[in-house]
Amino acid sequence: MLKNKFIIEGLGGNKKLKGEIKISGAKNVALKVMASSILFEDEINLEDVPYTEDIKKMASLLESCGAKVSFDKKNHNKLRISTKDLKNTDLTTDLAKAMRASVVLTGPILSRFGRVTFPLPGGCVIGARPVDLFIKAYKKMGAKIIFGKDGNSFEIISPNNKLHGADIFFDFQTVGGTETLMMAAILAKGKTILRNSAMEPEIKSLADYLISCGADIKGAGTPTIEIVGGNLLKNNDETYKTIPDRIEAGSFIILGALLGDGLTIKNCNPEHMESLISILKESGVDMNVKKDSIFFEKNKRNVKNKSFNIRTHEYPGFPTDLQPQIAVYLTQTDGESRVFETIFEGRFKYVEDLIKLGADITIMNEREISIRGGKQLKVSEDDELTAHDIRAGFAVVLAALLAEGRSTVSNIHFIDRGYEKLDEKLKLIGAKIKRV
Ligand code: EPU
Repeated sequence: MLKNKFIIEGLGGNKKLKGEIKISGAKNVALKVMASSILFEDEINLEDVPYTEDIKKMASLLESCGAKVSFDKKNHNKLRISTKDLKNTDLTTDLAKAMRASVVLTGPILSRFGRVTFPLPGGCVIGARPVDLFIKAYKKMGAKIIFGKDGNSFEIISPNNKLHGADIFFDFQTVGGTETLMMAAILAKGKTILRNSAMEPEIKSLADYLISCGADIKGAGTPTIEIVGGNLLKNNDETYKTIPDRIEAGSFIILGALLGDGLTIKNCNPEHMESLISILKESGVDMNVKKDSIFFEKNKRNVKNKSFNIRTHEYPGFPTDLQPQIAVYLTQTDGESRVFETIFEGRFKYVEDLIKLGADITIMNEREISIRGGKQLKVSEDDELTAHDIRAGFAVVLAALLAEGRSTVSNIHFIDRGYEKLDEKLKLIGAKIKRV
């Protein structure tokens, strides 16, 4: 039977977690590099890929299209993908519906085969998440969009099997849109310019790898990216080494700030987390930031850290993917804070779980909450906490660790989508957590 719950013994606010946490590779770039395999004439190799549920789903989705995906038997963080025999360009399976990131496959498939079908996006646990910007951009590159007779999918076709370059302005920054259109442009005819592109470090890392395999891309990591289309890429004996996951690292930094006592976060890139590190330092957190690690000493001062307001923002601003975790931090600071969610509506479902534990939070509207800090969290009998999505899942685990008493967290399959072996990593630093 699927073990879908955590039982967690809370630390009652005592800083007790010590030792080392090793950060895994970033799932949000590994997924896109996996999708890019379709642009290659030969096999691609990846390493430091986090062996999470989303990665396994992307592997299955590629296989359902005819690709060959092989995880290394001894080291599941390494894999090879060959799309030489890929023929199926229909992405309308349940797998594609279940994973928003599958939309990134439309770019490489359309660009290589001239046709792709994709399910209409349904509701999602963190907001509506439409694909209108992708569709608008494909039309500019010459594609035709046909809505499926079933009413649940659409077909995108490029005349003469080839997209053409275009000057595309994204109405707002989209991570998946930028990556997908950058990949679509690699096999298109002529030059594509993507304006108002997202600037997340994962986009630059993906581009750098594709460039090393023959793509002509300039400007990734800035708002304007220029791509000149050409032939299928070649692996050139390059292995893609996944960059450290800045959201996993950021989640553990917040945990370190709350519960660390001689805790080191290893294999991270603090340059990718400036917004978080700077606000925590201002709030009073003692941490020693090095080139690729962060160390938390025991906080000797017996005063509460300062509260602050947070507004989520595209990179390099404060990431939406750390919004639930920082809200847990703010339940422990001195004073009142506001959290504004600007990227996704409906990303406050975890608040009801924090309130169950005694946090003083008011939902002002679907984009804003107000937190009065300084309350010791406590588990009451019969409370069951829920992981509503990947990041909200980490937030409730963090709240349960902070609280007094034993908690149950259900629906942890959401956490497994994005955090590699979270329970095992937590056990290594002294947390009492069991998967049941
Ligand atoms: N949007 C549209 N139309 C589009 C595309 C996007 O309205 O055609 C909207 C979205 O609904 C959202 C905003 O634009 O309101 C930004 O969405 P974006 O496209 O940037 O998000 P994404 O590519 O779907 C990735 C990450 C998310 C992360 C966001 C924002 C992956 C697989 N997912 O999603 O990660 O929250 O960027 O940084 O890369 C997570 O890891 O837990 C996660 C949700």
